Amino acid sequence: MKIKAGIIGASGYTGFELIKLLSRRKHAEIAFLNSRTYAGKTVKSLYPDFEDGKLKFTNLSIEEINKSGADVVFTAMPATESLDVIPKLKSKVIDLGPDYRFSSLDVYEKVYGAKHKKKITAVYGLPELFREKIRKAKLVANPGCYATASILAALPVQKMAKHIIFDCKSGYSGAGSKKTYANQPENYTDNIIPYNITKHRHKFEIEQFIKGRVSFTPHVLATFRGLMCTMHALLGKEYSAEDIKKMYIERYKGEPFVKIADKIPDLHDVQGNNSCALGGFEIDENNQLVVISVIDNLLKGASGQAVQNMNIMFGIDEKEGIE
Ligand SMILES: NC(=O)c1ccc[n+]([C@@H]2O[C@H](COP(=O)([O-])OP(=O)(O)OC[C@H]3O[C@@H](n4cnc5c(N)ncnc54)[C@H](OP(=O)(O)O)[C@@H]3O)[C@@H](O)[C@H]2O)c1
Repeated sequence: MKIKAGIIGASGYTGFELIKLLSRRKHAEIAFLNSRTYAGKTVKSLYPDFEDGKLKFTNLSIEEINKSGADVVFTAMPATESLDVIPKLKSKVIDLGPDYRFSSLDVYEKVYGAKHKKKITAVYGLPELFREKIRKAKLVANPGCYATASILAALPVQKMAKHIIFDCKSGYSGAGSKKTYANQPENYTDNIIPYNITKHRHKFEIEQFIKGRVSFTPHVLATFRGLMCTMHALLGKEYSAEDIKKMYIERYKGEPFVKIADKIPDLHDVQGNNSCALGGFEIDENNQLVVISVIDNLLKGASGQAVQNMNIMFGIDEKEGIE
């Protein structure tokens, strides 16, 4: 069986990653690639490195999408844009944006300043937490990139910590392809750009799953892809680093995309693959545990994880096409 997959927002950075992942798979075929700006043009005309010179963007209406035979639609639009689209889609949906990630509509409204017309049930698409629910979901809310790296870093120790501080750095593709201060070469070159230093939106997403005191500060790096979260967990009492590492190994046993590293991981370990590498596991004299969590923001932080979720939803090997 081939899964027919369509993408809305296909011309953006995460959309293009999805195109690459889906077009080379034996279990999936592309049903449509919606782009309002590039409809009728080839993918190659926008991304010259793409091998297929024939595949074209479309601009199907919602009605046409619902008749296209797509088994699943990936929505990869900026925040708040999917609110009017997703409720009208008949197929299974995997949303890469933030609009369905919050179980509380009040918190969503406070953080994003937009309102849902009605509550639609979505499953938060972090397989390491919600694999069984993802299997049966009609709508999966794919997690944010910073949230993925931070939650995976903190899950094994959250109950032992008095306060967890996530100090995160992302490649500039994290801001999307639309022009922003942080994705302009004159700003990011030879630079590190801190932003939203105490109230970034992902802090509120993380707080849904990591209870207790959480602090979060993001920065943009002069690299295209890759994201590092340095987690400082202030532990309530003394623990041995060896025992902590064992807890991580135990928690993520059998997880195909979480790797417990024997060295301090860096971006080169994950750029271009769907893993989250966790390492470091050092504790200082203040009972501060430091764990380094790295992912590719466009893969485990977005499109790779979205395809992982698709595999789970359709009951095929979770690793298919993203190994
Ligand atoms: N970049 C990352 O690392 C990352 C990681 C995790 C999650 N995300 C989330 O994933 C989503 C997409 O991110 P991205 O980086 O791919 O953004 P992007 O590069 O800015 O692409 C978004 C695309 O959405 C389309 N679009 C915008 N408004 C639309 C509308 N009203 N209706 C239909 N299409 C619309 C645009 O294409 P056309 O103008 O051609 O239609 C645009 O190319 C965002 O919500 C982002 O927060 C991104």
